[in-house]
Amino acid sequence: MIDYIDKIPNNVDLGQDRVLQRALEHWQPAYLNWWNDVGPNESHGFDVYLRTAISVEPDGWAQFGYVKMPEYRWGIFLQPRDENRQVNFGTHKGEPAWQEVPGEFRSTLRRIIVTQGDTEPASVEQQRMLGLSCPSMYDLRNIFQVNVEEGRHLWAMVYLLHRYFGRDGREEAESLLARRSGDADNPRILGAFNEPTPDWLAFFMFTFFTDRDGKYQLCCLAESGFDPLARTCRFMLTEEAHHMFVGETGVGRIVQRTCEVMKENKISQPSDVRAMGVIDLETLQRYINFHFSVTIDLYGSDVSSNAANYYTSGLKGRFEETKLADDHLLVDAEYPVSEVIGDKIVTKNVSALAALNERLRDDYIKEVESGLGRWNRIIEKAGIPFRLRLPHKGFHRAIGNFAGHHISPDGVVLTPEQWNAHVAEWMPSKEDYAYVQSLMSGRVVELGKFANWIAPPPRGVNNQPLNFEYVRFN
Ligand SMILES: [Fe+2]
Ligand SMILES: [Fe+2]
Repeated sequence: MIDYIDKIPNNVDLGQDRVLQRALEHWQPAYLNWWNDVGPNESHGFDVYLRTAISVEPDGWAQFGYVKMPEYRWGIFLQPRDENRQVNFGTHKGEPAWQEVPGEFRSTLRRIIVTQGDTEPASVEQQRMLGLSCPSMYDLRNIFQVNVEEGRHLWAMVYLLHRYFGRDGREEAESLLARRSGDADNPRILGAFNEPTPDWLAFFMFTFFTDRDGKYQLCCLAESGFDPLARTCRFMLTEEAHHMFVGETGVGRIVQRTCEVMKENKISQPSDVRAMGVIDLETLQRYINFHFSVTIDLYGSDVSSNAANYYTSGLKGRFEETKLADDHLLVDAEYPVSEVIGDKIVTKNVSALAALNERLRDDYIKEVESGLGRWNRIIEKAGIPFRLRLPHKGFHRAIGNFAGHHISPDGVVLTPEQWNAHVAEWMPSKEDYAYVQSLMSGRVVELGKFANWIAPPPRGVNNQPLNFEYVRFN
C-alpha cells in the first residue's frame, strides 16, 4: 500500500530517509508554483472526478473521487522489488540488478532520466489552454487526469534524481521546473515537446502518437539493469495506458461523428463536410501525417552509437527484452535501416546494436498501424471508401537518415520544388488549424452534452453515466 500520511505519498519508505525527505519537501513548493503558473489554465478551484493510485498492484487504481488538482496526491510509487532480478542484457548480463548507480554510468543514466523527465511537465505546458475549449465535461475530466499523471511522472523522475544523484540530481530537478515548452531561451529538450498543442484534435493525436512514444521509451527503461529506474517506469506504464486510451478513443469518436454526418447527408467533399461543422477525413489524415512524423523523430538517429552504448551497458533494453529469444548481447546481429541515395531509398543491414533506435521505431510503428486499423473499421462500417494511413517512415523527418530529404507520403524521393507543390495536401495548413479551432471556440460543459464534431463515448468514467458531473466549476 501507499503511505498517504506523509506529506509526499510514497511506497519507498521516505520517512526513513530524513535527508531525502527534506530535499523533496523543499522541491515540492517549487513544483506547486510550476503547476500554478503553467498547469491547466484557470482550473485551480475546480473539483475534478479523478482517480488516484492507492496501491501499486494492478488493481490499485480503484479510488475515484473529487479532487482539486493542486491538492492531487502526487507521490512516489515504484513497482515492488524482485530480489532475484538480474541485468538481462548487455555485457553485464547475469549480474544482480543494480540497486545503486554504477559509477561509470552515472552521467549517462542521469542524462537518460532527465530526458525522460523533461517530457512530463512539457506536455502539461503544451496542453494548458485546452480546458477552455473542451468538447464535453467527460473530455475535460480526461485531459485533467492526463495532466495530473504527467505531473506524477515528473515526480517519479525527480525522486530518482534526488535519491541517487546527489547535488547534480537536485540541480537537474530544479532545471526540470525551469525549462518551458516552446520557450526560445530555455526550451524543453526534445523537439516534439516544443510544438504547440493548439486544439483538441491535436491533443488526441498527441496522446495517441506521442504518449505512445512515451510508452515505448518507458518499456525500454523498465528493462534497465538499474533496478530503481526499471521499477519506477513499470509503474508509470499503468498511467500511460490511460493516456493512449484517451487519444485513440478521442480520434475514433471524431472519425465516427464525421462518418455519421457524411452518411446522413450523402456528402464526401471536404468543403461539404466542413459546412456541416465536423472535421473532414482529409484534415484528419494531415494531422496524422504531422503527429506521426514529429513523433518518430523522437526515437533518434537510425544508426546511433549512444543507443548501442546504452544497451551494451545494460541501461536501456529493447521493447519486451526478456521475451525476446536471442543472446541479448547482439554482438553479431544485424538489422535493416534505410537511407536515401540519389533519388532512391535503399535498405541495408547494419549492426543491430547501432540500429536499436530504428528497431524501437519499427516496434512503435507496428502498434500505431493497428490503432489506425481500428479507426479505419469505423469508416468502413459507415460504407465510406476513404482509408486513413500512415505516411512513409521518411516523410517530413528532421532527424536520422531521412533528414534533409523530401519524401512523399508514398515514399517517393522528391525535389524541393515537387515537395512544395504538394505539401499543402499532406501537412495541416494554417487554414486547417483555423477551421479546426473555429469549431472549438468555447467550452461545452452542459451535463451529458457533446460538441457537434465528436461522438459521445460508449460509456462514462468508472461506470458513471455520460451526464455525470465530472467537473464542478464552483
Ligand atoms: Fe508521462
Ligand atoms: Fe503520458
